[in-house]
Amino acid sequence: MSDNIDEFFEAALSLVKTAGNLITEYREGCKLFELKSSDIDLVTEIDKKVEETLINGLSNKFPDHKFIGEETVSDGGKCELTDDPTWVIDPVDGTMNFVHGFPHSCISVGLMINKVGVAGIVYNPILQQLFTAKKGQGAYLNGKPIHVSQMTELKKALITFETGTSRDEERYKAMLENFQLIVNKGHGVRSLGSAALNMCMVALGGADAYFEFGIHAWDIAAGAVIVREAGGVCIDPAGGPLDVLSRRVLAAGTTELAQELAQTLVQFYPERD
Ligand code: IPD
Repeated sequence: MSDNIDEFFEAALSLVKTAGNLITEYREGCKLFELKSSDIDLVTEIDKKVEETLINGLSNKFPDHKFIGEETVSDGGKCELTDDPTWVIDPVDGTMNFVHGFPHSCISVGLMINKVGVAGIVYNPILQQLFTAKKGQGAYLNGKPIHVSQMTELKKALITFETGTSRDEERYKAMLENFQLIVNKGHGVRSLGSAALNMCMVALGGADAYFEFGIHAWDIAAGAVIVREAGGVCIDPAGGPLDVLSRRVLAAGTTELAQELAQTLVQFYPERD
């Protein structure tokens, strides 16, 4: 199977690099967009074109593979995770950044087999950051190995965190309470505007942890492989195992920090993917 994973990974990587050119054409921003689930959940033609490029390319090569793609699901497609090889795709993670020309957007592609993440690619073509990982083979930034930080205590930790793409009142309340908790108890809070890139910052050791309530499978599937392969943990924010469809995630460099956060955070349970 690992030979197959290498073949799957190389095919996806080549498509991701090609699709990255669609994003760099709009490095100064993409002013034409539509709204999806709320007035802060945006989609552009480029999101759709990147997803089409990836799904067409991968399904031509691997006709029996399945897909969970952000824009396909938004257009009414199924979000179904089976044991079959399944590509979980966010064509532009950080669409709000992409629209504004804030240079932190990426293509995020995770591969799951038997419901386990086996490969992840997160590519920010604007800043030329390519994060990659294959199960059991480590995590890399532009080909160089990366490792999580060894931070075990919240009081010295730098935490990434997002305000999200819905204005749901209950979620907002939990988000603001958590923001206050982390500001009071931790070293500092950062927000890149992309779940996948936040996870890669944890993998790189630049941030000590990241959590979010309300993300989707496509935001985190690739990042989860990259964080784990960099030596970190990726769990449910209440402390149990990660369920990629639960719309909840907590990534950290160490189990100690992850568990301290799990005990500290105000929990929110969105509707599942
Ligand atoms: C969003 C970004 C954002 C996060 C949201 C995601 P999108 O993805 O990752 O940082 O807060 O939860 O949905 O919509 O830009 O692909």
